[in-house]
Amino acid sequence: MYIYTYGCQMNVHDSEKMFGVLAQSGYVRAESAETADLIIFNTCAIREKAEQKFFSQLGRVKVLKRRRADIRIAVTGCVAQEAKDKLFVRAPHVDFVVGPSNLHRVGDLVSTGERRTYLEDDPDLGNREFSAQRENGIKCWVSIMYGCNNFCSYCIVPYTRGREISRPSAGIISEVRKLVEKGYKEVTLLGQNVNSYKSDIDFPELLRRIDALGIGRVRFVTSHPRDLSPRLIDAIAELPSVCEHIHLPLQSGSDEILRRMNRRYSYARYLENIKALRLRVPDIAITTDLIVGFPGESEDAYEDTVQALKEIEFDGIFAFKFSKRRGTAAFGMEDQISEEVKAKRLGRILDIQEGVTYNKNKLLEGSVQEILVEGPSETDPDMLVGRSRMNKIVTIPEACGIGDFVMARIERARLHSLEGAAVGRDKSAECV
Ligand code: SAH
Ligand code: SF4
Ligand code: F3S
Repeated sequence: MYIYTYGCQMNVHDSEKMFGVLAQSGYVRAESAETADLIIFNTCAIREKAEQKFFSQLGRVKVLKRRRADIRIAVTGCVAQEAKDKLFVRAPHVDFVVGPSNLHRVGDLVSTGERRTYLEDDPDLGNREFSAQRENGIKCWVSIMYGCNNFCSYCIVPYTRGREISRPSAGIISEVRKLVEKGYKEVTLLGQNVNSYKSDIDFPELLRRIDALGIGRVRFVTSHPRDLSPRLIDAIAELPSVCEHIHLPLQSGSDEILRRMNRRYSYARYLENIKALRLRVPDIAITTDLIVGFPGESEDAYEDTVQALKEIEFDGIFAFKFSKRRGTAAFGMEDQISEEVKAKRLGRILDIQEGVTYNKNKLLEGSVQEILVEGPSETDPDMLVGRSRMNKIVTIPEACGIGDFVMARIERARLHSLEGAAVGRDKSAECV
């Protein structure tokens, strides 16, 4: 088997779960699609470009099936759930279409033989346990909830991932406990809107219980600004393992656009969140997502977003041109913005943010940061690379070893990373 993965961290982790399910059914990993008997495309539908990337790769494997008729091709993930059996028409070489709630069934695909879809809701999804085959031995992902109930007007996720379901805390805690025993140093808790996690306990309480398990670092994505509670801010401030970084998607600085996006907060409210976070956790890094060219975004509304960037000074942003998604409320909205204007607006936002990011990094020069060493640097084999608690990429020339926590002084800031020098070790006393 071979899996192509597109999209967000949740999809990357879903592929790890599928590797686990398939291994239990006797599959082994192939080096490449060319040598695989089952090829899976784990797809993303968030923007048109993500879909296009998948469709062009899907087109390229057509020849493999012509050469070896026994190859089976499955499409999983968000495009699968959205396109359903229409995929068989558009791509006749596809055998199986499997939605994100049906990952546990990928082991049965080939034995069923026939072409078919697996798209039903799974009421048991929250209780399913997967023995994921994880790609990384240092950091790992753990799903805490599935789906989304927010229906932001631009977004396809509520249609592809279904309604919000939280996993019971016991399953999450025993999974993290096992990962700690295996030696993992960092866990990232995954959900579309982790702040609305609600099972037997709520999200701040879940963080407290995970902190007690003794894992070095805990991260979480994604937080919705509307649900950011003072108790969550307290948890970030008080729990030693919870990292000083939050990804808090703003989307737009204009109240009118936020309203049309159905985000249900105002810019002023968002700013209050930022102030409360910075007051309680002074060194917190804040990153965000922005969409430019949402239908009806006037020059003034766009300037509100530019202004927000200057006012808030994010540590980093992910900015996107609005992409029309069939079935969402924004698809048919009037006053769609031209591609040319979207591109211009995106370019300027990215330019402005570059300066902000660099200045933020510059402020860290001279400070000492805890780095979790992840491996050799891709650009310079003599250097190691890791991340700080604030999620900044830091290169260091000397360190104990991969998987260690190292204290490093930041010598020089770059735009996308920091250069550090190890000054001592933390949390790894065995390593001298
Ligand atoms: N659940 C997360 C985000 C999931 S999608 C959250 O609510 O924050 C990741 C990002 O993709 C979103 O934050 C948004 O900025 C962007 N996005 C989603 N739909 C989009 C669309 N139709 N066009 C452009 N960007 C989009
Ligand atoms: Fe999409 Fe909004 Fe849900 Fe995030 S919160 S997944 S942007 S609908
Ligand atoms: Fe893409 Fe689905 Fe994730 S649309 S961003 S893979 S939730």
